[in-house]
Amino acid sequence: MSAGNFGVAGLGVMGRNVALNIERNGFPVIAYNRGGDKAQRMREEAAGKNVTVTQSIEEFARLLDRPRRVLLMVTAGAGTDAVIADLTKALEKGDIIIDGGNSHFPDTDRRAAALHAAGFHFVGCGISGGEEGALWGPSIMPGGNREAYERIAPVLEKIAAKTADDGPCVTYCGRASAGHYVKMVHNGIEYGIMQAICETYDILRRAAGLPTAAIQKIFQDWTASPKVGGFLVDITAECLGKIDPDTGDALVEKVLDTAGQKGTGKWTAQSALDLGIPIPTLAQAVNARIQSGLKEARVEASKILHGPAGGLRGDSGELTERLHDALYLSMIACYAQGLHLIQAASREYDFGTDLAEVARIWKDGCIIRSKLLDPIKEAFRSDPGIENIIVHPSFAPVVNAALPQLRSVVPAAVENGVPATCLGASLAYLDSYRAEFLPANLLQALRDNFGAHTYRRLDKEGVFHSQWNRND
Ligand code: 6PG
Repeated sequence: MSAGNFGVAGLGVMGRNVALNIERNGFPVIAYNRGGDKAQRMREEAAGKNVTVTQSIEEFARLLDRPRRVLLMVTAGAGTDAVIADLTKALEKGDIIIDGGNSHFPDTDRRAAALHAAGFHFVGCGISGGEEGALWGPSIMPGGNREAYERIAPVLEKIAAKTADDGPCVTYCGRASAGHYVKMVHNGIEYGIMQAICETYDILRRAAGLPTAAIQKIFQDWTASPKVGGFLVDITAECLGKIDPDTGDALVEKVLDTAGQKGTGKWTAQSALDLGIPIPTLAQAVNARIQSGLKEARVEASKILHGPAGGLRGDSGELTERLHDALYLSMIACYAQGLHLIQAASREYDFGTDLAEVARIWKDGCIIRSKLLDPIKEAFRSDPGIENIIVHPSFAPVVNAALPQLRSVVPAAVENGVPATCLGASLAYLDSYRAEFLPANLLQALRDNFGAHTYRRLDKEGVFHSQWNRND
């Protein structure tokens, strides 16, 4: 029996590239897009290949082997619901619909319930790696119906990125919306690491006064670092090295300093607030993007509010070394916060997510792939219940060794008026996490003072209320 063909619905660049990846790996593809331009582009790119392109949903359904396997590659949101509504008219009970977009996980739960009730199988599936990854090997994060996953696993395993030592970058992430949840947190970590990198660049630029070419050289050296090395540092070196053909200057210096976002970082922060898990570095990365958007207000404020002029007292080489370890520790904080959140979500929503597997499939193909993921995977493999990797025996010595560097870099930013939004948040997170005592004693007293919210005591059992304005 042939392995069967595979449907891809939605032929934007990600959809086209995934379709070509599936075909290259030996599976005939039926590719569907209602609009003509994208369908035509697919026809051109797939010329001579085993890809049939159609603009008719009825023909799409007719050409697919049963039970049909259809991967949706459409922009998350209303578009996903619209394509699902069309598809369900043409498909039959028992067919498998896979949503490969960045859907918000509550939408995935809603769609799964409706589709299961109608007799379809539904797999919410995060896919990371951008356009290149989609074509040559992404990291794939499927969740939902296990039986349906088993039917698509042979295809996903073929098209996923392959680690040299750890198999294809795909695993069953868990029940319900676990796949999209894991992908959402992947993006939250992506936001945090990117912002920490940007602050490192900003300190080198504005505090140490280094030109872009010198900062490029530093990041280039760090691409080989066993600590911070990974895709995001690699592409930082690339971005800093790109020359603007019009002016001959570094292109990055010409880019408007206002960051975009599509929502996955914000959703990560919202979910963390709902679940009561602290992820300050990831949340501050969202705030940093929002604040970057206030460009006009910032330009005006820069004329009204004053800060230090900048300019380093000391050796920039020494600062660079400390920044390396500070970035390393901030990256650890990002992964620690994100994985803590997934662990909590898995318990709350009964996903059954294997954190060692999540770290393993992030080792290649995805945007946050880095050298750190191997020791993280090992830690979860030896101890699957880890609450937070920063206190695990394999990471605690690393955190203790790098903390003084982060602690020295944040004041260097502060003294020079450079916002260390995520580096500072990482330091405060670590200092809070390791604090035997926090000032929440006073907070409880304040709450009890104005609202009789009561408090507990360190020295005796029970619940107490006091008249805080009297000593009689
Ligand atoms: C990936 C990326 C990709 C994209 C996100 C975040 O894993 O391939 O995470 O999904 O980068 O949509 O984009 P924004 O920065 O626009 O929110």
